[in-house]
Amino acid sequence: MQDSSTYWKRSRVELRAAGFDPDKTANTSAVVTIAAAYTNAHRCNNRVRSLGDLLIELLGERGGQGLIVGAPAVSDALTQGTPTAGYSLVSRDVVADCFEIGHYAHHGDAMIVISGCDKTGAAALMPLARTNAFGLVLYPGTSSPGKVSFEPFASKGTNITIMDYAEGRAAQETGRISADQLLELERNVMPGSGTCGAMFTANTMSTVAESIGMMLPHGASHPADYDAKSDMHADVRAQARASVEALYRLIEKNIRPRDIMTERAFENAITTVYAMGGSTNMYLHMLAIARQAGVPITIERIQQIGERVPLIANLQPHGPFAMTSLHAIGGVPVVMKELLRNGFLHGDVMTVTGKTLAENLATVPTLDQLPKQDIVFPVGKPIAAPNNHISVLRGNIAPESCVLKLSGKTLDKGEFRGTARVFDSEADTMKAIRAGEIKPGTVIVVRNVGPVGGPGMPEMVMLTIQLQGRGLGEDVALITDGRFSGVSHGILIGHISPEAARGGPIAAVRDGDTIVIDPKNRTLNVALSDDEIARRMKEWRAPDLSTRIRPGSVHDKYVKLVSSAHHGCVV
Ligand code: FES
Repeated sequence: MQDSSTYWKRSRVELRAAGFDPDKTANTSAVVTIAAAYTNAHRCNNRVRSLGDLLIELLGERGGQGLIVGAPAVSDALTQGTPTAGYSLVSRDVVADCFEIGHYAHHGDAMIVISGCDKTGAAALMPLARTNAFGLVLYPGTSSPGKVSFEPFASKGTNITIMDYAEGRAAQETGRISADQLLELERNVMPGSGTCGAMFTANTMSTVAESIGMMLPHGASHPADYDAKSDMHADVRAQARASVEALYRLIEKNIRPRDIMTERAFENAITTVYAMGGSTNMYLHMLAIARQAGVPITIERIQQIGERVPLIANLQPHGPFAMTSLHAIGGVPVVMKELLRNGFLHGDVMTVTGKTLAENLATVPTLDQLPKQDIVFPVGKPIAAPNNHISVLRGNIAPESCVLKLSGKTLDKGEFRGTARVFDSEADTMKAIRAGEIKPGTVIVVRNVGPVGGPGMPEMVMLTIQLQGRGLGEDVALITDGRFSGVSHGILIGHISPEAARGGPIAAVRDGDTIVIDPKNRTLNVALSDDEIARRMKEWRAPDLSTRIRPGSVHDKYVKLVSSAHHGCVV
């Protein structure tokens, strides 16, 4: 059987016209799709093009030919809180489709996917699992953190991230910091490009890629650069070279993504993300990736795997440290070594090094062997006991499921009981918060912002930032059928399924109802009888989306196909 790339190598007239040497390409050792969601529009993916060019060069040294396949790269930082926020989650599946299309259309033999901002990180693993082409993921890097001279930020040292800037902006609105201090934050928070710099969604997904075995060790945490004007960071360059070498090893040894992305590897990745305090978006993305890999993971199974795992990485948003601080002490392998030693991981799974996880971790120092540090805690003395960071709940307003984010906190009374204040849009909620209408003891309900109602399930991060910036993070809960950014922290419940726009009972909640969040029993309920909920739902009418969704648009297709958050919003 001939390689797929035979068709590309034989297209002599096309190759010549495109600037290739047909005689040379006939002998190319491998045609490698460089799946690159590049844009110069934002810091998260603006190094992807130069990294793609570097890969072409490095593959050339091995006699291979890299072919770039592009895709849109949506930055949540540019869309959150705006009318275009609904393009973010949608882009995950579009990006995966673009990479599949380009790979097959150009007759690729193998694939290196360059990830980046949240959805490109999630989409990185999907085409690898879907096509099962030899391949791996390479991360363009996270943002180097900054530092400022005033509290409450100065004591974090060189660990100031975009989260601090966002919360600083809300704090300035309420006079908690000055305009000059906000300017100092703005000037210092991110010296260069890279993804949001702590355990937010992009780094959650880079951690998934590494811990599932599809990225080389130490590849999930490097800084993208030194500053905005510098070249890419030396660690990124080194990872690119090592990734090309690894790709050829995978081809030689005939190790494909689905040999690596097994059920046990998913269990490892889920365990690592829980231990590191990852983003709630992980639920959606793990379900979507598992579906592509043919692995039968459900949201209940993710909870079962995660609920025995303590929180041991002291990273933002729950802790003070940035991702690059973890990188400096050895990165994700340090966390995985501690987990493996304590029986939380399967050491026998294959990885893109061509070795097992246990073999990869054999030379990684244990916590005892590291110089004193406060970034990774021992499993026996964790930052928080299992089930205090993220977990899956159900209840009479979330009959399928919803996800709770407590960021390592324990609720004082063991539960949060509050009075509902209901909104049907993020914008209306924001107006009420800014007007000072939200008081301690409130449960903000934001609905009709789910996968269909959004459309596109926008992130409610601007609301959670406002609550934090106003000092309400511990006294006000926010529940929604939308989702959260990894930056979000507080008492938060998202992904309520079924969503309001599809007739989920969150649509029945009214101002003044009592809502009870019970993490121990993993329930979210409104204090109403089933009869009363049913009576209210009889009056429910589906929202008219025609004013927001143009016929033939991406969202028009999306709302016809998308599954609920309970199933990962897969299309
Ligand atoms: Fe791109 Fe956070 S907005 S990584």
